Amino acid sequence: MKLTILGGGGFRVPLVYRALLDDHAEGRVSRVTLYDTDGDRLTAVARVLAEQAAGIDDAPPVLATGDLDEALRGADFVFSAIRVGGLEGRAADERVALDEGVLGQETVGAGGIAYGLRTVPVATDLARRIARLAPDAWVINFTNPAGLVTEAMARHLGDRVIGICDSPVGLGRRIARVLDVDPDRAWIDYVGLNHLGWVRGLHVDGRDQLPRLLADPALLGSFEEGRLFGADWLRSLGAVPNEYLHYYYFNREAVRAYQDAEQTRGAFLRDQQEGFYARMKDPAAPPLATWDRTRAEREATYMSENRDVAGAGEREESDLESGGYEQVALALMRAVARDERTSLILDVRNRGTLTVLDEDAVIEVPCLVDANGAHPVAVDPLPYHAVGLVTAVKAVERAVLEAAESGSRAAAVRAFALHPLVDSVNVARRLVEGYTGAHPGLAYLDRP
Ligand code: G6P
Ligand code: MN
Repeated sequence: MKLTILGGGGFRVPLVYRALLDDHAEGRVSRVTLYDTDGDRLTAVARVLAEQAAGIDDAPPVLATGDLDEALRGADFVFSAIRVGGLEGRAADERVALDEGVLGQETVGAGGIAYGLRTVPVATDLARRIARLAPDAWVINFTNPAGLVTEAMARHLGDRVIGICDSPVGLGRRIARVLDVDPDRAWIDYVGLNHLGWVRGLHVDGRDQLPRLLADPALLGSFEEGRLFGADWLRSLGAVPNEYLHYYYFNREAVRAYQDAEQTRGAFLRDQQEGFYARMKDPAAPPLATWDRTRAEREATYMSENRDVAGAGEREESDLESGGYEQVALALMRAVARDERTSLILDVRNRGTLTVLDEDAVIEVPCLVDANGAHPVAVDPLPYHAVGLVTAVKAVERAVLEAAESGSRAAAVRAFALHPLVDSVNVARRLVEGYTGAHPGLAYLDRP
């Protein structure tokens, strides 16, 4: 089985490869092709993978290429993990928003819209190319903003593209741990859009255990989201939100903390990764150790300003190990390739699951997965507070898709202006000016 990774020079590729090395079952991935537009990054990551594979007899061979057609031909699975504009682009997305007094973040609010506007045209071209060259391949989209990008790709690939994120699994696992239940036996009632969802229940043997958590301040104080949102707010909400909802529920504090921070997340990661890729040019630098040190530092500082705002302290040891993102991808690939039925929280087209959204809207919900793909399961309707955010943000995503397809600036302004975290149409207009000035990749927004 051939797996192709688009964005194969990306920093998190070794996580995926490590997961592949642990899989020895029949029908496993037998070769990996890394595709990237940046040859130096490809070489750097290939060095890390070579060290990971050292001494392992059945390690899948790795081919690195800058030829997209070669990479796609014959692929059974394609992982799409690209970063249009690189981390420099991410830093600019954050900076322009923060200078306007609104949230600058990779996936949420103005920054996420800017990133979406830059990424959708590129992801759409890739989807078209995959549909032509590898029509039977399954595409797993990791590229953020993952829900929006998956929806853009689904217009060309239908249900053959499935989006993934590790935050719902991480949240489910943390809640299960706190409640002392086996995560594999728990049914997690999680629903929403990517980075905009809520755990509304955690069922074991037909019994919802979440009320036990919500009733216990000590338990609520003992895991990441409990500390981030605070026991009172979680009880009042009657659900545990995805950590990214901190940007909504504590927006003012988060924006201020991001403005006051010495560096934005994007700028920090840009500098950190420049250091890593530069070191990899030195043949004496140990690839795996250097990569792992960089990875650990990235994990430890994840959402640190939000945790500071909430007084939530450091991340827990068990949350620093990763094991989320690549495990979801591997479980999904296994289920599809070997018809090993399982359930996973994934980003898929709605198909009637949430009645407030149309059929084609990509949502994030538990799915049953088998050789025929991912099928969203029936869920209870969203409560009104969630309907409000989910439909508002879906309207924003649709405006982004419209702008990306038509080049309409008015649609781009509408995307920013309709976002619940952008507080004036004038701000939206200035954001479009600011972003088109900062990003050559937005020059396509040249129609009124
Ligand atoms: C979480 C999110 C991902 C994001 C990752 C890394 O896992 O779900 O979407 O890519 O964190 O965030 P970072 O700020 O380190 O790039
Ligand atoms: Mn994510």
